Order: sequence, then C-alpha cells, then structure tokens
Amino acid sequence: MKILDGKLLAKNLNNELSKKILSYNKEYGRRPHLLVILVGDNPASQVYVKNKEKKAAEVGIKSTVIRLSKNVSENNLLKVIDEANANISVDSILVQLPLPNHINSNKVIDRISIEKDVDGFNSKNIGLLALGRPKVIPCTPLGCYKMLESILDLEGKKVIILGRSNIVGKPLSFLLTNKNATVTLAHSKSKNLQSLCLSSDIIIAAIGKPNFVKKEWVKENAVIIDVGINVIEDKNGLRKIVGDVDYEDVIKKVSFISPVPGGVGPMTIHCLLSNTFLLTKN
Ligand code: GUN
Repeated sequence: MKILDGKLLAKNLNNELSKKILSYNKEYGRRPHLLVILVGDNPASQVYVKNKEKKAAEVGIKSTVIRLSKNVSENNLLKVIDEANANISVDSILVQLPLPNHINSNKVIDRISIEKDVDGFNSKNIGLLALGRPKVIPCTPLGCYKMLESILDLEGKKVIILGRSNIVGKPLSFLLTNKNATVTLAHSKSKNLQSLCLSSDIIIAAIGKPNFVKKEWVKENAVIIDVGINVIEDKNGLRKIVGDVDYEDVIKKVSFISPVPGGVGPMTIHCLLSNTFLLTKN
C-alpha cells in the first residue's frame, strides 16, 4: 500500500507554478490576480478562503477577498460580480459556495464571465468539458485527475465515482471519460453499490459520508481517491477530520490511497492557482 500524497505533489507543482509566475511577472510587471467573494460566515468556508489566500501568496498570486454579509441581496451580489468582470486588474473570480438559501447559486455562477471563471462551474465551461473541449476544468476534479495521472495510465481503467455533485462527481466523470477511462457515476439512488465498487480499478468517493467505504467494497490492489472532508467526534469527544473512506479498514487491500487530510485538499488549491495563471495568460 502506498499513500497518494497530495500534499507533496501539490508542493512540487506549486513550486513549478511559482517559477512560471515569476517569469510572467518579470515580463509583464504584474502578478496574476484572484478575486474571492465570500458571503456570510460559514466556518468551513472561512477556513477554505484563508487557505486559498495563503497559498496564492506563496506562489506569487495576488488575492483579494470581498466579504459580504449573509443578508446581502442577490442583486447586490450580482453587481459585485459585474464590477469584477469589468475590472481589468482581476484575472479570475471565485464565489465561495455554499451561498445562503435566498440566493440562486446557478444565477450567480453563470454571471461570472467565462474569461474569469476560475472554478469552471459556469454552465458554458461545464458544457465544453462535457464535449471534450475544456477551457477551465473545475479544481477538485482536476486535482483528482492529476493525482491519478501521477501513478497510472487511465486508459481502459474501470472507475467508479461515488457522488454526482456539480462541483465534483459530474465534471470528474466528463474529465475521466475524456481521458479514456470507463466511468460509472454512482449516487444515492444507485443499486448494488458494493458490487459496482468491487469490480472497479479505481474508487473516487465524494459523497460527504464519514468512513462510508469499507474493505468489503474494495477490490484487491484498487486505487482510492478520497474527496470527503467530514468533521466527526472520536471516542474521546475530540473533533477530527475524516474522509468518505474508512482508511484504516481498507488500507491493507489497496495499492494506493489518498489520505484525508493531505490528499485531494492541497491538490484542489493547486488547481485553483494553476487555473488562475491559465486565465491570466489567456
Ligand atoms: N465550496 C466547496 N468546494 C468549492 C469549490 O471548489 N469552489 C467554490 N467556489 N466553492 C466551494
């Protein structure tokens, strides 16, 4: 069993990226600029945004965070996006999700200009990815792909993705299909999940259920990517973060597994930074 160390891979990729950004800066006299819009005070979102700011600074990307009240109207949020779209000093825009219930997320996501949509969640970007003509690929799916690509050739591999979210499962199914994997996109209504998992070379879990995948579900020498970030209380009442896969349970059976934390998370942030640089160059 080998650990698929996303933290280390992201560190190496961030180092390479920072060199490219340095030479861009020398040539054009400016740094790439990421604008993050954070609505409300969701504690997890606050942590994610802090991490993004810190990592952006490390590779030489300027980041600005606009913090809006949880009561901001949809119209005012759309105005902020319109201004960012028109602001030539801004290269990429990210609206942190989830948004409060009174705001229509689809409308907000589609308001971000396709030239600045660093998450790749805009319906046009998702459509282009589905058609195999991607421009910006969503960060978590791209991070999962880069981890897999670092250890194997995806062509002809049987992959099961657990979870059909618009942020992870769906775009990841398009991306891996484009890379010639045979993809099953499973979800809460799927039947025979265990046997679907058992016949898969690669399991990608993105369902938000702590320790859901057990060893009885996993083929010998399978590869596992764990996208889950779940906060649970352990036996002593201490809060800890676990994935969607029961790591200790499956560890003896798998050939590779990405840990939580230290797996997909750092790769997602790397891809946010590399997408920002891509949009900057474009
Ligand atoms: N919330 C959880 N994951 C993400 C992500 O990848 N992008 C944005 N914008 N919000 C998120």
